Amino acid sequence: MVAIAGSPGAPHAAILGLGVFRPSRVVPNAEVIAAIDSSDEWIQQRSGIRQRRWATPEETVQMMSVAASREALERAGIAPAQVDCVVVATVSHLLQTPAVATAVAHELGTENAAAFDISAACAGFCHGISLAADMVRGGSAGHVLVIGVERLSDLTDLHDRGTAFIFADGAGAAVVGPSETPGIGPVVWGSDGEQFDLIRQREDWRDVVGTPTEPGSGVMPHLVMQGNPVFRWASFAMAKVGQQALDRAGVSADQLDVFVPHQANMRIIDAMARSMKLPERVRIARDIADQGNTSAASIPLALHRMIDEGEAHSGDLALLIAFGAGLAYAAQVVTVP
Ligand code: UT7
Repeated sequence: MVAIAGSPGAPHAAILGLGVFRPSRVVPNAEVIAAIDSSDEWIQQRSGIRQRRWATPEETVQMMSVAASREALERAGIAPAQVDCVVVATVSHLLQTPAVATAVAHELGTENAAAFDISAACAGFCHGISLAADMVRGGSAGHVLVIGVERLSDLTDLHDRGTAFIFADGAGAAVVGPSETPGIGPVVWGSDGEQFDLIRQREDWRDVVGTPTEPGSGVMPHLVMQGNPVFRWASFAMAKVGQQALDRAGVSADQLDVFVPHQANMRIIDAMARSMKLPERVRIARDIADQGNTSAASIPLALHRMIDEGEAHSGDLALLIAFGAGLAYAAQVVTVP
């Protein structure tokens, strides 16, 4: 019997470089409150958000992905031709098919890299990092570009009090490649489909198009969220997931340098840090204050800011933890590139 040849991979994988794109248009709370009968004070107290960024028409999902990827590749010292796979985590690429990853791979100048999108909402980037680490170690790719990108402003109902002040736009990208030592710890991930309805697109495509008797209703498929149950779930259940990711990586809270939770709400960030009893010295990502909740883009955007502002240094141990619609979640310890 002929044995199928194996594909030896690298012993370990790591994030080699990170890049981001922050949309040019800054939107302060003052701009969103009138349509939702809210106030700057309420938004800051309940969510920690001072302002967010919304993309201009030119700042498309593809454009933002390419810009973030170029910076990630440059920082990693990797040429586009060395990228074997492009994974884009997004829920706001408004074409059902093809995957935006194929256009991104082409525009970057990869040599026919494998390319596909994944849909794991706010947990998408951490899912992508886990897949990429396994690809590099399993031998199916040398270098993988993982992109988290959203234009949630396209899917946000500006009159919806529960979401209009939260969601925002942006992109972050990471180059994952071979490493001498483990740079991406074991993933702890999962889902709770019983809570499928808590954050979801309100309309499916049939509602958008209408019925044969009422064609073309013309509604945008907006996102809706039952914020409070998600808030309670995230504040408590996710701290356990973070602890499991630390345990599986063999890293204690005392050894951690940086905590980069999904930027959903400043109070959730604080509640998780308290439940995990993170020591004072652990630096905590708080990008949400100026960036809003950018779903799949939030973790790379937040980590990138910490690197640029000198709060995270190359080689630091960082706990990433992401959660959102599904409900889906994923966490892992990584070394900062
Ligand atoms: O990224 C994916 C994961 N997403 C998340 O993790 C988001 C989790 N959820 C949240 O961040 C929070 O639930 C929100 C920030 C969305 C809301 O905060 P909350 O503390 O859960 O508020 P709530 O829905 O319990 O509402 C509290 C009060 C209510 O008034 P009463 O009944 O106490 O008089 C609401 O009517 O605040 C009122 N309210 C508002 N007031 C001003 C609700 N929305 C608003 C608003 N502006 N936009």
